[in-house]
Amino acid sequence: MGLKPATNPDVEAVTIELSIDGKSVTAKSGVSLYDVISSTGKIIPAMCYHYTFDPFGSCGMCLVMQEGKKAPVRSCTAKAAAGMIIKTEGDDLFQARKKAVEKHLSVHPLDCPVCDADGHCELQDMAFQHGVTNLANAKQKFIPEDTRSPVLDFNMNRCIACAECINVCKDVLMIDALQFMKKGGFNQVVPKGDLALSCEFCGDCLAVCPVGAITNKFSKYLYKPWQMKKTTTTCNYCGDGCQMYLETKDAEVVRVTSPLSWKNKWGDRAETAKGHGGLCVRGRFGFEYIDSATRLKQPLLRKGNQLVETPWLETMHHVVDRFSEIRRKHGPDAIAGLITARCTNEELYLFQKLMRAGFQTNHLDSSARYGHLNFVHASQHALGIGRSPNDWEDLTKAKAVILIGSNLTETNPLTAVRIKEAIRVYKAQVVVIDSAVTNMAKLASHPVLIAPGTEGLVIDGLVKAALELDLIDETSVKKHPHAFEALKAAVAHVSLEQVAAQTRMSVESLKDTVTIFAEASRSIILCAEGIVRRPDGYQNVLKLIDLAWITGKLDQPGCGVNTVTEEPNEQGAVDMGAAPEFLPGQVSFNDQTARDRFAKAWDVTLPAAGSGANLVEILKGCKTGQIRALYVIGENPLATLPASMEVRAALDRLELLVVQDPFLTETARMAHAVLPACTFAEKDGTFTNLEGRVLRVREAIDPIGESLPDWHIMTALANALGCQWEYESSNDIQAEIMKLLPGYYNLGQPRKVVPAVDHYLSSGYAADVAVRYRASAPSDAKNGRPFALLMGQVLYHSGKLSTEAIGLITIAPNTGRLRMNPQDMERLAVSEGTTVRLTSDLGSMQLAVQSDHSIAPQTCFFPEHFNEPPVKDLMSVQVDPTTGVPTFKQTRVTIEKA
Ligand code: SF4
Ligand code: SF4
Ligand code: SF4
Ligand code: FES
Repeated sequence: MGLKPATNPDVEAVTIELSIDGKSVTAKSGVSLYDVISSTGKIIPAMCYHYTFDPFGSCGMCLVMQEGKKAPVRSCTAKAAAGMIIKTEGDDLFQARKKAVEKHLSVHPLDCPVCDADGHCELQDMAFQHGVTNLANAKQKFIPEDTRSPVLDFNMNRCIACAECINVCKDVLMIDALQFMKKGGFNQVVPKGDLALSCEFCGDCLAVCPVGAITNKFSKYLYKPWQMKKTTTTCNYCGDGCQMYLETKDAEVVRVTSPLSWKNKWGDRAETAKGHGGLCVRGRFGFEYIDSATRLKQPLLRKGNQLVETPWLETMHHVVDRFSEIRRKHGPDAIAGLITARCTNEELYLFQKLMRAGFQTNHLDSSARYGHLNFVHASQHALGIGRSPNDWEDLTKAKAVILIGSNLTETNPLTAVRIKEAIRVYKAQVVVIDSAVTNMAKLASHPVLIAPGTEGLVIDGLVKAALELDLIDETSVKKHPHAFEALKAAVAHVSLEQVAAQTRMSVESLKDTVTIFAEASRSIILCAEGIVRRPDGYQNVLKLIDLAWITGKLDQPGCGVNTVTEEPNEQGAVDMGAAPEFLPGQVSFNDQTARDRFAKAWDVTLPAAGSGANLVEILKGCKTGQIRALYVIGENPLATLPASMEVRAALDRLELLVVQDPFLTETARMAHAVLPACTFAEKDGTFTNLEGRVLRVREAIDPIGESLPDWHIMTALANALGCQWEYESSNDIQAEIMKLLPGYYNLGQPRKVVPAVDHYLSSGYAADVAVRYRASAPSDAKNGRPFALLMGQVLYHSGKLSTEAIGLITIAPNTGRLRMNPQDMERLAVSEGTTVRLTSDLGSMQLAVQSDHSIAPQTCFFPEHFNEPPVKDLMSVQVDPTTGVPTFKQTRVTIEKA
């Protein structure tokens, strides 16, 4: 694709002058004339144009007169040149555009009354604007609708061959799943090869289609656009925090749209570095869990062996009496709480306040403990900042990216689109280091396949290679000579050859990677589940920080070490203090000044400094009987943690288990009381995304049944326990947070954070670093079991929540199959669907296999969203000694034909 100078800061383009409708305009030479005209504020019709990709020039609407040319020219594909004299208005142009509309309409079915785009169709708008009244010659195409895709239908009778769908898929998303094909005398859009659509199902093609040629299977023929209410909110699936519109009719979410649309076709292409406004499959098609028939509509109270629907008042009386009794008899530390990072900031804040000020215990944790806290602690310890330092724009404009331990297109698809733009537009060198052949690896300049679980060793090798190649930034290391000496001593024993042998990343590749990283002007490291959700996650993040420090990429503009978050508000959970080690604002729970401040603000005595249990400790406490009551909001430890954690035994011992959730989860089934909570679509609040943007969540529909927002239930509980909370809305909670954390609500803007490494390097670093690179057995030590079994996320799901969304389950049901590399299947003489016995040190089970080319040899994979069969129970758990993060997504197994 041709690069437009305007979009690439590295492309030099001379500034030129031209005349548009008699006014002198300056522009960059070579950019689309249409862009230059639009930049003056003039909007001329353009049906095949969208600012997010290069012009295609098929619709014939963007016509202008250029002095010296007899016929009108298509301004989108014409390039601006010095001295051009352009006219954009006039009857001649109006008539020429009108003719173009008539041409499109002459082969259009005119089935507007039954078309989903009726009232939201550019062709209708153009016909109206140009006064097209004679439709007598319209010819039908009679092309059968293509309904083979699980989410999109293609009605090529309505297609105007603008190619916007093809271009967004190919250029912006780099997926390239669509093409034109001449069929039945017409140029039709078909999935590649004219097979059933096989793609990421993001629906961006549907979003940019200016007519009703691509339709959403789930909302087809339901309502007209003007019958629906549109609420702007933030996606509840991953930490990318995409902005979306929930389009609703009464209590039903009908469809999800986003800022990417043919209606939003005018923009500054350079702005897409901050995001292109689209969604991924989860955001667009994963909404049906909201009004699912399985939603809990009433509180449930255990009566004998059964959970029985019970009025709110009776249930709450029971819950409060039981909590109070347990606190009275056994003290506040007999109570603990867990919360999901799918709750809003306001709810997470309230949760920790309820636990600390209401129950008077510091036994509390959130799902950020499953990995994000490894990153937060490492980054806070070394740099004083507890989140990723770079925003999407930095990622997009990076010149070098090391993406390590991340299947980014599956976990954070829109962050992945930023890396794609870095590759495509900004010509970034991208090194993808992973133990699977990821989607991103296929696009990267340097894909590196490593042995599973050896990410930490790879980082050792990269640090060592930087030292050996003398890719050291003198300014950075000179300031801290002792720290630098300590680092050199710590990696003295590391041999690149040994690293290469253990990780399968060659010495040459280690050296290339670090050279690319050190020599680029803007270099970014992005680490994810393969680092933060694996053993030694905390130390491995610190090693990445070492690498960035010695190469001078820690605190330079556009550089830094980053992570991604899988749930929408993991960052918010940490920022709001939903962890025993942190008060709101990520200050230590033991910091006396902060303790005094919060104690005063909440008018309470806080639990003792040094007290508090995290997730793993809470579950242990439940098992030993020290914790007798557990309040679980949106979490489902029974379905998430492996059997070796003995969660069932822990929950079984509880005298009171209260689960607050939109669904009757596995954990909820064991509860004494189940409180029906709302989803994000039924409440107000904010999420903090992985860039640190605080984004609005807005109520789109009334609560389903008798469910209530989590903040509402917590407020009622706190008041019944004797607190005097007066929150009547999420805004009231927000106002309190604003006072305690000034500046946190910088709505919509990423809050800039500046890493400060000097303190760390000058105090404590030498002792720290000495143990960081200790020679340890790689975590894929084979134990006689030749395969690595990995569990992880797939694109079409997020946690267990998405399994309640019919759209996503239709696209990706649980096959119950183990994914394997075809070569391994051949070696084991098994074929698609053959049952195998999968055995780890902890047990054995039978399941069928499925071939998957993205799985590396000697590796197998099972999606973590499903427990049928319970593959997770083959996993052992390791708990990080510094951060308390439990890791349990990887083990060694044997696979035999059953
Ligand atoms: S749904 Fe997304 S990936 Fe699939 S064809 Fe459309 S734009 Fe491409
Ligand atoms: S399907 Fe829609 S977006 Fe694609 S070429 Fe046809 S009209 Fe354009
Ligand atoms: S799941 Fe993540 S990437 Fe997908 S739409 Fe939601 S926030 Fe965006
Ligand atoms: S917008 Fe220029 S030809 Fe379609």
